[in-house]
Amino acid sequence: MHQNNCFDNRSAAPQRVTELAAEDFRIGGRLLPSRFFLAPLAGYTQLAFRVVVRRQGGLGLATTDLVQATMLWSERPKSLDLVATCPEDRPLSVQIFGGRTEDLVRAARWLQEHDYQGIDINMGCPMAKVNGAGGGARLMCDTSGATEMVGRVIDAVKLPVTVKMRLGWDDSLITAPQLAAAFEQIGVAAVTVHGRTRAQGFHGSVDRAGIREVVNAVSHMPVIANGDVRTPEQALSMMSDTGCAGVAIGRGAMLDPWIFRRIQQRVEDPDSDQDPAPSQDEQIAFLRQHFELMHEQHRERACLMFRKFAAWYGVRLGVPEDLEDRLRRFETVHEFHEIVDQIAARHGEREQQIPTALLKVPNGPIEHW
Ligand SMILES: Cc1cc2nc3c(=O)[nH]c(=O)nc-3n(C[C@H](O)[C@H](O)[C@H](O)COP(=O)(O)O)c2cc1C
Repeated sequence: MHQNNCFDNRSAAPQRVTELAAEDFRIGGRLLPSRFFLAPLAGYTQLAFRVVVRRQGGLGLATTDLVQATMLWSERPKSLDLVATCPEDRPLSVQIFGGRTEDLVRAARWLQEHDYQGIDINMGCPMAKVNGAGGGARLMCDTSGATEMVGRVIDAVKLPVTVKMRLGWDDSLITAPQLAAAFEQIGVAAVTVHGRTRAQGFHGSVDRAGIREVVNAVSHMPVIANGDVRTPEQALSMMSDTGCAGVAIGRGAMLDPWIFRRIQQRVEDPDSDQDPAPSQDEQIAFLRQHFELMHEQHRERACLMFRKFAAWYGVRLGVPEDLEDRLRRFETVHEFHEIVDQIAARHGEREQQIPTALLKVPNGPIEHW
């Protein structure tokens, strides 16, 4: 069984990649259903969304939104909401962030005591608030400090500890390869690399050669490549171009929550040109389940919380505009189901599209984030 960087696929041909992608994959002893992961998107990839995406098939591992370590160990209600989970929401890692080792250690212990299965440390967040307190991508500026910090977390718990990072702070400080090599030495179970620097924010395109440098810097620790993957073809070419062990998909999974099962189909049957697009019934079921799961967790607050997905569902499912407008304003569970009944009955009135720009990313000069 291979656990590592694609089993040396550093120059694998595309056909070989599909074979490699189908092999068993473990991180920190956990056997994962696939090598294709949901990257955290704070505010979107919460429990309800994760579970409904898992139900579509093909997802290997999901990660919670980033949670501030101090807020977690001190059990603030908002943080407890962020780490809310259920047996169907597995395998899961909880992502913590902070600039102080003691806080990360306490949060990691808290997660272990509460039966979570994996801890991910955020070293990629570019937001000033997070970086100003020494956390997120700021940690990449001090490689020995970051290594010491992660080592203390590893020593404090038995759970697998992973790290999600960028390529570095900016073009003059590309530290991901050096950090990955050091993390491998201290027992980090895997790293995810978003192929941009902190200075790039979400601009420009992902630097696959930069991710490859990280893969080349380690010998056995899995490297998960991340950034700009929107289609199954791009997921597989990310593997062949970088030699990574797996791929994490964030915005691409919001735009197309069926992407993981489409990849799975491609991996299991590379010669087939079938691409299992979701049927109308599946799309409507997705919408209902997403809301029902949110309602289970948040009760009456779910109506308000769900409204922010109205525009996205409007485009994604081709919801007629008057019904999209009602989805933006509904107040009760009964009203939600009545709207969805009408969406089902009027399916096809408006063209469906893969949305392109509905997910806001921080913009403008990076110093102002
Ligand atoms: C709205 C939004 C929220 C994000 N939240 C997180 C987060 O909580 N933790 C994290 O490590 N990365 C976060 N990211 C970064 C993504 O996980 C991912 O690295 C990045 O979007 C590039 O991958 P993609 O092109 O597949 O989306 C966020 C990105 C966006 C756009």
